[in-house]
Amino acid sequence: MTTKGRRTQAVHGGTQRSQWGEMSEAIFLTQGFAYDSAEQAEARFIQAGPDEYIYARYGNPTVAMFEKRIALLEGAEDAFATASGMAAVNGALVSMLRAGDRVVAARALFGSCLYILEEILPRFGVEVVFVDGADLAQWETALAPGAKAVFFESMANPTLELVDIEGVAKLAHAAGALVVVDNVFSTPVYSKAIAQGADAVVYSTTKHIDGQGRALGGVILGTREFIRKTVEPYMKHTGGSMSPFTAWIMLKGLETLELRVRAQTASAGAIAEAISGHAKVTLVSYPGLDSHPQRALAQRQLGGAGGTVVAFEIDGGKEAAFRFCNALEIVLISNNLGDAKTIATHPATTTHQRLTPEQRAGLGISDGLIRLSVGIEATEDLVADILQALDAV
Ligand SMILES: Cc1ncc(COP(=O)(O)O)c(C=O)c1O
Repeated sequence: MTTKGRRTQAVHGGTQRSQWGEMSEAIFLTQGFAYDSAEQAEARFIQAGPDEYIYARYGNPTVAMFEKRIALLEGAEDAFATASGMAAVNGALVSMLRAGDRVVAARALFGSCLYILEEILPRFGVEVVFVDGADLAQWETALAPGAKAVFFESMANPTLELVDIEGVAKLAHAAGALVVVDNVFSTPVYSKAIAQGADAVVYSTTKHIDGQGRALGGVILGTREFIRKTVEPYMKHTGGSMSPFTAWIMLKGLETLELRVRAQTASAGAIAEAISGHAKVTLVSYPGLDSHPQRALAQRQLGGAGGTVVAFEIDGGKEAAFRFCNALEIVLISNNLGDAKTIATHPATTTHQRLTPEQRAGLGISDGLIRLSVGIEATEDLVADILQALDAV
């Protein structure tokens, strides 16, 4: 399958059929598996083969199909599917870290990722140093004493600032650190993170991969050695594995992922153009626009795609932002992203409320900032809805 096109892999990759030859992937909704004999049970506990299962926390055929398919799409050797995106972030980091290790991370992180790095890892003797992710000189200085891992979101939530994966990976590898990239905003459609130097890539599959708001999920991708020797033992004994039903939802999501993400990206670009220069909009951040300060990096890292999210600032702070949100007729007010339905989020009062006003200001999250996750509705309806809501501000 590795030589097939991405859209072919997204539909067929990793499929294993039962004796019934089902068209849609089977959901093996079972906690465990019966053995032919006591000897077989003993042998499987000593060393399970590739298609041999013991217990759903360790592995399951439906989950394995999802892991194989997403690994093919990402160009990774292997994958481990998790119960949520946060189980993936936690698993990728905690499974490899020991007391005394150092981690260098970008400061602009989703709140729960920040909680792991700021609150949990230091409790277990891991030193965490934060840098401005877009500034390679800061990475170089912070990595100089050596580090075990670096962690960053390749496109920061919600400001859409990019981190140069290739640039950071070179510095990190020279310092002996593994590069863990939270790639949610780049999506597997535009990601070339492994080829650009990432050692491990994590996704919240809750976002574009499900893409239809049904289930929480996550995945860690990397070398077979890292996934099976480091991640798997940690995940299978600590309980963060993906359920078979969720894996089936994610398999179905992968089939249409590229079609959805490309349509969402086209609409996001149209919306970014339509609101650029609008009298009520003081700033539009979209990596697909020539005005994005990191446009050249977006070209290199994402093949020029701007992604499915547009961030923009409304003149008038929180009051104006709330008036905009409350005037929307098609776009929903919520806090997920990557969904088929377009979603407006006010990060300062929801996803990034935990930060102090100073921290938010430092990350460029103003009270007027809106994060718009663009769905698959008709582009002209979305543009019209957003323009009429801006008129109401
Ligand atoms: C960048 C990023 N990483 C991780 C997560 C966590 O994913 P989940 O909600 O599936 O645990 C999210 C969103 O919630 C996110 O936006």
